[in-house]
Amino acid sequence: MITVHLKERSYQIIAGSGVLASLGRRCAAADLGSDAFCVTDPFVKARYGKIISSSLSRAGLASTFFVAPSGEKSKSFDECRCLLEALARFDKNKRVFVVAAGGGVVGDLAGFCAAVYKRGVAYVQVPTTLLAQVDSSIGGKTAIDLKHGKNLVGAFFQPKLVLSDVSLLASLNRRQFASGMAETVKYGVISDPRLFGLLERKAGTLQSGASRELVPIIAACSRIKAGIVEKDERDETGKRIILNFGHTLGHALEAAHGYGGYTHGEAVAIGMACACDLSRRLGLLDAESAGRIERLLTSFGLPVKMRPVAFRAIAEPYLRDKKFKGKSRFVLLSKIGSPRVVEDVPLSLVREVVASRMV
Ligand SMILES: NC(=O)c1ccc[n+]([C@@H]2O[C@H](COP(=O)([O-])OP(=O)(O)OC[C@H]3O[C@@H](n4cnc5c(N)ncnc54)[C@H](O)[C@@H]3O)[C@@H](O)[C@H]2O)c1
Ligand SMILES: [Zn+2]
Repeated sequence: MITVHLKERSYQIIAGSGVLASLGRRCAAADLGSDAFCVTDPFVKARYGKIISSSLSRAGLASTFFVAPSGEKSKSFDECRCLLEALARFDKNKRVFVVAAGGGVVGDLAGFCAAVYKRGVAYVQVPTTLLAQVDSSIGGKTAIDLKHGKNLVGAFFQPKLVLSDVSLLASLNRRQFASGMAETVKYGVISDPRLFGLLERKAGTLQSGASRELVPIIAACSRIKAGIVEKDERDETGKRIILNFGHTLGHALEAAHGYGGYTHGEAVAIGMACACDLSRRLGLLDAESAGRIERLLTSFGLPVKMRPVAFRAIAEPYLRDKKFKGKSRFVLLSKIGSPRVVEDVPLSLVREVVASRMV
């Protein structure tokens, strides 16, 4: 068990195999309410809905499901409105709370709706993808997208509990598992050389069904994310920015290829490879460390080269910024475990690196 220490907003992360069956008991013990509004997606509902509803009913809690379509398109105003109206219809006893059971899409959508419904009702994160277990369920960032960009409408709103059942990951396909592994590699790279070494040793054998091996890895990542969030809950002190390692170019690539072209983790893997190249070219990082990072990413089946895309599409966010002076901020690396924020990376260098990473 890991605690995220945020004074009156503190909460626990429970990661283990089979912990989903304890959902109802834990919600009841935390006195979150009497009526659970469970947000999920079609796959998770079909596969795990029964475990969720029986656990809640064993604890004497009423429940209903709201099933959002799979995929990023559910992080929209339309879906948000449908969800809030269903929540209001269900909220008869004024003791409603939200359970977000799914990947990062469900977590972000349900978390955002919990934040704004009646100016905030309690919610629990039940992350069911590796990416959600190691990253998106922790830290209280909730959001929906606009056509102008991802996560543009959101709120900081911490859950009351995060319940990560590692046995659920067995049903992830290879791509979804690798996508989560990209974030896991990121944690090793930005903060924990021992975790990085462990991943290197286990790379050949780690699979979504390997619950026993995955529990300590998920716990290590959760601890790192919790520690960073504790230091900078609302992205104000600059500490949280290191979580963006690989994400500056990763997000740009996701957008440039159309959401869904690359999974988030795939785009971040390419972004991390580019961040290593930039670090090398600026004389910050040695070739051996950069090589280890690239090998670890490829050993999980993640891409480190990108399909061709116009550089303009990647550079769009900078070029749109009127104050942009040809240089921008990147999280780079001086060695594994030591990130470094560099404020003035020339766009010309980024262009060179991106060009050299195209297949
Ligand atoms: N809030 C944050 O701090 C934060 C951090 C990182 C990412 N995110 C967001 O997370 C989202 C991506 O999350 P994701 O990668 O989990 O994608 P996702 O939620 O779209 O899930 C991917 C797919 O996995 C399926 N799935 C879920 N659980 C499964 C299981 N146990 N077995 C088999 N299939 C399962 C889903 O049905 C879906 O089709 C993005 O919208 C991103 O912006 C948020
Ligand atoms: Zn990410």
